[in-house]
Amino acid sequence: MQRRIFLTLMAAAVTASAALGGASIAQAADQVKIGFLVKQPEEPWFQDEWKFAEIAAKEKGFTLVKIGAPSGEKVMSAIDNLAAQKAQGFIICTPDVKLGPGIVAKAKADNLKLMTVDDRLVDGSGKPIESVPHMGISAYNIGKQVGEGIAAEIKKRGWDMKDVGAIDVTYEQLPTAHDRTTGATDALVAAGFPKANIIAAPQAKTDTENAFNAANIALTKNPQYKHWVAYGLNDEAVLGAVRAAEGRGFKADNMVGIGIGGADSALNEFKKPEPTGFFGTVIISPKRHGEETSALMYTWITQGKEPPKLTLTSGMLATRDNVSQVREQMGLAAK
Ligand code: GLA
Repeated sequence: MQRRIFLTLMAAAVTASAALGGASIAQAADQVKIGFLVKQPEEPWFQDEWKFAEIAAKEKGFTLVKIGAPSGEKVMSAIDNLAAQKAQGFIICTPDVKLGPGIVAKAKADNLKLMTVDDRLVDGSGKPIESVPHMGISAYNIGKQVGEGIAAEIKKRGWDMKDVGAIDVTYEQLPTAHDRTTGATDALVAAGFPKANIIAAPQAKTDTENAFNAANIALTKNPQYKHWVAYGLNDEAVLGAVRAAEGRGFKADNMVGIGIGGADSALNEFKKPEPTGFFGTVIISPKRHGEETSALMYTWITQGKEPPKLTLTSGMLATRDNVSQVREQMGLAAK
């Protein structure tokens, strides 16, 4: 009798441990790992994207691998590295959209699912690679919001448009940048702003320092204007122009810059005790670009459901007076 009970207990223990062993094997097979590569990890927009991607990772229970990839070589080695780590897919904002065919080929060779964010890959002839799911901003429309915001402020201040110069900080090799600044230019011109007063200021790289240098040239060459406005691809571009104008005595009273982004670069500017020439920003959604892209990739890996080929997100204009309300409306937590 004693012996029978002992044997039954033993059998139960063996079954239980086999079941547990099975579960842990299944769990290991289920481990989802997703890479999130960004071109400029030091830029607050990308840090916010990562922050929101982490939220998706916690909620869904996958591992997020954040990689800063500022060059083509970094991108290629990061993709191999992800494959070696047994990741199943990655999301990327590439340092150069022309790397498109190379990134697609590498992802395929490494058997990794690929989705792009912010900057859409192009093929050898400069056309978007439509087979890769992408989430970006509706660049031209958001640019228009910038231009309309600047035009409204010029009118509110009662400036004569012929006395106003516009610094258009451009970065033509990036299609989303081209579309954003074109939208802003078109809206300004539609509002009656003289086209001849718009000065293209090409920046060599998309950061504040390069925008500052580009804007300085525009200012030096055009001493005839009494007031200035500025726009560009993102908040960093406009901050560069604002700092350059400040250096020449054009402060908040004579400068209206409106950026795109709404991350810390803009928020810090609004927190300064006195207004600066950085008048506003069109806030876009790092939540959608970080959290939603990651969740879409997770669903693709776990359920085989591919993300939509193209998702374009919108933005809302905010100034220092209403930035908290606008952020709240966009589902971005208070900072
Ligand atoms: C580009 C810009 C970033 C940011 C994103 C938003 O990648 O370089 O600063 O504006 O677009 O999609």
